[in-house]
Amino acid sequence: MQIHELLAILRTRWRIIVATILVVVSVAAAITLRTPPTYEAYTRVYLSAQGDEGSVNLYQMPSAELSTILEVAQSPVVLTPVREQLGLAPGEILSVRAAAETGTPLIDINVSARSPQAASDVATAVAQKLAEVSPEFSQMLASSGGEVRAQTIVAASPPGSPVSPNVSRNLALALLAGLFLGIGFALLRHNLDTRVRTAKDLAEMSGKPVLATIPIRKGADTSRVFMESDPFSPHAEAIRRLRTNLMFVDVTTRKHSFLVTSPMPSEGKTTTAVNLAIAMADAGTKVLLVDADLRNPSVARTMGLEGSVGLTTVLLGRASLDDMLVQWGHGELFVLPAGEIPPNPSELLGSEAMRDLFAELAQRFDFVLVDTPPVLPVTDAMVVDTLTGGSLMVVAANRTKKRHVAEAIKAFENAGAKLAGMALNMAPLESVAYYGYYRQDGSTVGGSPDDEASQLMLEATRPRAAARSRSRR
Ligand SMILES: Nc1ncnc2c1ncn2[C@@H]1O[C@H](COP(=O)(O)OP(=O)(O)O)[C@@H](O)[C@H]1O
Ligand SMILES: [Mg+2]
Repeated sequence: MQIHELLAILRTRWRIIVATILVVVSVAAAITLRTPPTYEAYTRVYLSAQGDEGSVNLYQMPSAELSTILEVAQSPVVLTPVREQLGLAPGEILSVRAAAETGTPLIDINVSARSPQAASDVATAVAQKLAEVSPEFSQMLASSGGEVRAQTIVAASPPGSPVSPNVSRNLALALLAGLFLGIGFALLRHNLDTRVRTAKDLAEMSGKPVLATIPIRKGADTSRVFMESDPFSPHAEAIRRLRTNLMFVDVTTRKHSFLVTSPMPSEGKTTTAVNLAIAMADAGTKVLLVDADLRNPSVARTMGLEGSVGLTTVLLGRASLDDMLVQWGHGELFVLPAGEIPPNPSELLGSEAMRDLFAELAQRFDFVLVDTPPVLPVTDAMVVDTLTGGSLMVVAANRTKKRHVAEAIKAFENAGAKLAGMALNMAPLESVAYYGYYRQDGSTVGGSPDDEASQLMLEATRPRAAARSRSRR
C-alpha cells in the first residue's frame, strides 16, 4: 500500500479513528479518576552502633548481614510495630523499600502510602524501628555492645502531590494508543469492505474499463432526466463523458447499439440509459431507447411518457412499430416503451420476432440503446446482448457488493456476452471532481473531449444517416 492510498483510507474512515480515540481516552480518564492516589516519602539515615568496642557502621558490615538488615526493614518485624505505633489502618501502608547506597554507610527508605502524612511518618518510624531491632539480626552490630542509632541525613517530609495516578501521562498515552488502535480499525474495516467504493476499485476488480463516473444526486437535484433539466451539472458532464467513451467502443464493434444493465436492481440502469440517450440525441444522432426491462419497466415513467403499450405490443403483432415509437423532446430521440408485462420475458426477448424487430430498429436508427433487467436475478440482459454491439454495466458506488459485480461479470463471460465497460453511478461528488471532469462553477470545459465526442458521434453514425436518407429518397 502506498502512502497516498493509506492517507485516502484514513481520510474516508476518519470517523472510526476519532471514535476509537474518544473511547480509549474516556476509558483511561475514568480509570485514572477512580484510581486512589499514592504518595511517596523518602528518608536517608546513617545506621551505626557506638559501644565499648568502638563504633560500627554499615560500611564495615558483611554483605549477607547488610541484606538481612535491608530485608528486615521491609518486613512485618518492623512494619507491624510501626503501624501500631502510628495507629494506621491495614491498607494505609502500600510498600516500603530499603536500600543501601553502595560504598556508603547510608540506608535509603522509600515509603508509599495512601496519604502524604502517613508516607512521611512511616518513613521516619521505620528508620527508628530498624535501628532498634537490628542488633537481633546483625552479629556485628550486636558485638559492638552499644546502642544502634539511626541518624537522619535526609528527613522525610509529606509530599505535595501523589506519584500516581499521573493524569497527563495517562491521557497522553491513551491518546496515542487510541490513535494507533483507530488506524488499525480503519485499515481492518477497509480490508473487510465488501462494497465497490471507487472507480479504481471497479476497474481493478472487473478488469474492464470504467467508462464514466456519475456523481450521486442529492436533495434538490431530484430530477432523473438531468440531461434536460440540468445540462451543465457534473452529472450531465459525466454522461457526456460516457457518450464519448462508448463511441470509442462503438468504433470497434460497429454495431451502433448497446444495452445498459447492472448486477442488481436500483443501481441506476434506467437513469443512465435515459440520460445517455438524450446526450446522444443532443449530438445530432437519431437515437432509439428501448425499454427491454420487461420485469420492471420504468423508462416511460422516468421520461413522463405513456407506457402501457410498446415493445411487447409489437412482438405480439398487435400494433405496428411506427405506432409504438414515441418521439421525445425536439431532437431525434425516440422511445419504445416496454408495453404490457409478459409472463415469459426471457423467452420473448430471445425470440425470432425480437431478433427481426431489432434488425429493423438497427436499420432505422443511428444508435439503439436498450434498458434491461439486472444480471444476477435474471438472464434477460445476456439474451439481449446477442442483439447489441455490447453491454454497459452500471454499478452503484458504496452500495453494490464487489461479490455481486464479480458474479455478474462471470455470468456475462459464461454466456459469451460482450461486456464493453463499466459505469460507476452514485459516486461521491468529490471523487468525480478529483478526475477533473467538470469545473467547480459547473461550466463546460472548452475544447474538452466532450466536443470531440459530438464530432465522433456524428462521424460514427454519419454514413448510416446518409444511407438512411438515400434509401428514403
Ligand atoms: N446518480 C444518482 N444519484 C442519486 N440517485 C440516483 C442516481 N442514479 C439513479 N438514482 C436513483 O436510484 C433509483 C434507481 O434508479 P434506476 O435508474 O431506476 O435504477 P435501475 O433501473 O437500475 O433499477 C432511482 O430512484 C433513481 O432516481
Ligand atoms: Mg430500471
